Amino acid sequence: MEKNTILEIRNMNISFSQYQKGTKQTKLPVIRDLSLTVHQGEMVAVVGSSGSGKSLLAHGVMGILPYNAEMGGQILYCGEPLREKRICALRGKEIVMVPQSTSYLDPLMKVGTQICKGKKDPERKKKLDGIFRRYGLAEEVQEQYPFELSGGMTRRVMISTAMIEEPKLVIADEPTPGLHLKAAKRAMEHFRELADMGAGVLIITHDLELALETADRVLVFYAGYTLEDAKTEDFRQEKTLRHPYTKALWRAMPQNGFHYIDGVQPYVKDMPEGCPFAPRCEKCTEKCRGEIPYREVNGGYVRCVYDS
Ligand SMILES: Nc1ncnc2c1ncn2[C@@H]1O[C@H](COP(=O)(O)OP(=O)(O)OP(=O)(O)O)[C@@H](O)[C@H]1O
Ligand SMILES: [Mg+2]
Repeated sequence: MEKNTILEIRNMNISFSQYQKGTKQTKLPVIRDLSLTVHQGEMVAVVGSSGSGKSLLAHGVMGILPYNAEMGGQILYCGEPLREKRICALRGKEIVMVPQSTSYLDPLMKVGTQICKGKKDPERKKKLDGIFRRYGLAEEVQEQYPFELSGGMTRRVMISTAMIEEPKLVIADEPTPGLHLKAAKRAMEHFRELADMGAGVLIITHDLELALETADRVLVFYAGYTLEDAKTEDFRQEKTLRHPYTKALWRAMPQNGFHYIDGVQPYVKDMPEGCPFAPRCEKCTEKCRGEIPYREVNGGYVRCVYDS
């Protein structure tokens, strides 16, 4: 039986308008043709290096893109379009985001009040106490202000904000930086628990190893493109992966030999024609300079002219 789809993004494009030389306006495409699905009970990780468009994806879904951004494509939540009015009504309730930046916390509000959004009924307080115990946060922290917390505590407070709502869709944008490895793993396990309880979870991270420990599927981002959508078990061996970039990420993992490839991800302004990875790819041929379709291969998706 097909599991319930919580979030479906179809052909999302995000671009920025920029002015060059005075009045000439140009469009800077930062996310191109992104499609992904998150089912109920599923944890999907989006993995990509800095600047690949991960936060913009989260902001696009949450309806909080900056004013100069334009978004195209379709976002469906529980099968219905997620337009501005609907996301405004569901944001912070059924759909929650753990933002990348800790500056989303209100510096002038006590942590406990902030997490409970001002509601102080005993039931909510009991729930908050339970969440704090789970994250190893002392009860006193509820009476503190954000500036009094360490980096790791701030992260755990931000995760608590998402957990209190019993959300159906959770989008966590880099929820683990600043946490030591054990705490980072624990945080990922808490998101896993949310998925196991029936939520759809989208985790955004640059840490492939951490993602592979807990997620069901991994989407590989590169310069605004999704190059691959693979099941976690596909990462057990290189040959079950589809895209040369994903294979390169696999070879760069410590247990697979730490082999790094040369070069860097291109910036949007210097994007090559065709495949964005082509300049670094050992399999690159003339075919890679044209349009590259995103297609299904062996139960996953890949944006490459070759099958594996
Ligand atoms: N307001 C903006 N105006 C113009 N370009 C922007 C704006 N915000 C982001 N960008 C560009 O969009 C691209 C993607 O940014 P984004 O923040 O989504 O990356 P990211 O994958 O989340 O990176 P990181 O891992 O560092 O958080 C970057 O090249 C960035 O420079
Ligand atoms: Mg980001």
